[in-house]
Amino acid sequence: MPTIIIDNLCREVPAVPGQSLLGSLLHEGQPIHTRCGGKARCGCCRVRVLSDGRGMSPRRDGERSLLGEENIAQGWRLACQTHILRDITIHLPTAAELDPGCSGRRGGGKAP
Ligand code: FES
Repeated sequence: MPTIIIDNLCREVPAVPGQSLLGSLLHEGQPIHTRCGGKARCGCCRVRVLSDGRGMSPRRDGERSLLGEENIAQGWRLACQTHILRDITIHLPTAAELDPGCSGRRGGGKAP
């Protein structure tokens, strides 16, 4: 089972088989945010991937559109649209690093 290393929190959690990165982080009680419930609409679940991109599923059009090329070039992914294939290292934004509308909305509903 691949491992998700959360660099800025000094934590390691397992990737849950069949779950998105968002689903795995919610399952493990990590502080990740969502407003849209994993539908690639809010951008609150974004994480910055610090390791190379080979450990993840490729980006789809909806993710590209929401993040934009500048954020993609900086390594940002939507956790709800990303599946983990190998061990990865991420930076999990704090509430202060996200849009104000994202703060305080952790998880909720069914994990995508
Ligand atoms: S949870 Fe809303 S974009 Fe990922």
